Amino acid sequence: MGRVAAAFPRLLLLLLGPGALGLRLLLSAPPPFNCSQLDLNCLVRNSTCMDQSWLQVSTWTPSAPSVLDVHPDVFHDEGKLLPVLRIEWKVATDASIQYLRGVELAVLQVNNNRQICAQFDFQNNLPLQVRPDGGRWNFTFNRFEVEPGQMYQVTVHHLPKLGTSGDHNCKSTSYTVPDCKDPVMKRTMPCMQTGSLWEPSIDGESLDDSSLLVSFNPGMESAQYRIHVTSFPDEEKQCKETTHIYESLQSGQQHRVNVTVKIERNLKACCRYKIQIQPFFTICGNDCLRHSAVIPCPSVAP
Ligand SMILES: *[C@@H]1O[C@H](CO)[C@@H](O)[C@H](O)[C@H]1NC(C)=O
Ligand SMILES: *[C@@H]1O[C@H](CO)[C@@H](O)[C@H](O)[C@H]1NC(C)=O
Ligand SMILES: *[C@@H]1O[C@H](CO)[C@@H](O)[C@H](O)[C@H]1NC(C)=O
Ligand SMILES: *[C@@H]1O[C@H](CO)[C@@H](O)[C@H](O)[C@H]1NC(C)=O
Repeated sequence: MGRVAAAFPRLLLLLLGPGALGLRLLLSAPPPFNCSQLDLNCLVRNSTCMDQSWLQVSTWTPSAPSVLDVHPDVFHDEGKLLPVLRIEWKVATDASIQYLRGVELAVLQVNNNRQICAQFDFQNNLPLQVRPDGGRWNFTFNRFEVEPGQMYQVTVHHLPKLGTSGDHNCKSTSYTVPDCKDPVMKRTMPCMQTGSLWEPSIDGESLDDSSLLVSFNPGMESAQYRIHVTSFPDEEKQCKETTHIYESLQSGQQHRVNVTVKIERNLKACCRYKIQIQPFFTICGNDCLRHSAVIPCPSVAP
């Protein structure tokens, strides 16, 4: 393991460059985001999450959004797919719509407490309590880039904010982005950088008490694979474990690989195996996604 680790020094960080991972606002990526809609002229901008209305108390403030939904989505940026949140909300149908001047959108990444914001500035008041077609006024924003597998707190604040105590005019929800095993997420750039497109379909066959034939589909490039096998007599207890390094030298479309893994002094009863394969692809080095499979004991022959 140490030998392999030394072969990929900080490669991942070099490839990604600064700011390529994590929470980010994609406002300037083409096409520029436009928050205008029927009868509403709206401008969108970067925000410091500290709208002036905190300080200047407004006599009248609009009520909170009535509905807030968050979904996973992807954004096409120069041929790359980026994971983003699609935030959708609706404006409550009440007279407070007359005082709605804009919206602050805040996204907090829970594991590192980092928050970024975007702001909609309405250039005119909404002309009616409902949309001209009769529905509730609704909005969508899909320019917060996020990390697969991470949890976020999403808050939509109607502006001006309530400067005094009372019912805060925001709505909040927490949302966990699907991880790189998700069929949509696995095609995004941050997932592909962990080798998410590799589908090994691991299989195992017991040859005798102390050897296991492991087979899997290798990746497209020549790479090293660390095959870790653990044997068990049942669900809980563990018997032996062993690690085998396999190096595939060919690249391109390849046949399934068969590797015989020996497990020294394994007991006959320890016939259940857990196989974990860690690939070392160039793009992800030591941080590639690992895949595993469980091989049950062979059913007793009659
Ligand atoms: C946004 O779209 C409206 C039409 O819906 C258009 O009149 C306006 O120029 C657009 N604004 C920007 C900044 O592109
Ligand atoms: C938004 O703010 C961030 C940090 O303050 C800055 O790096 C970025 O360039 C700004 N983006 C736009 C579109 O103004
Ligand atoms: C508002 O909702 C309608 C119906 O669900 C949808 O088709 C439309 O795209 C939404 N508009 C915005 C700006 O989110
Ligand atoms: C691996 O084993 C399977 C059957 O178990 C066989 O069909 C295949 O040809 C073997 N592959 C190699 C590269 O030996």
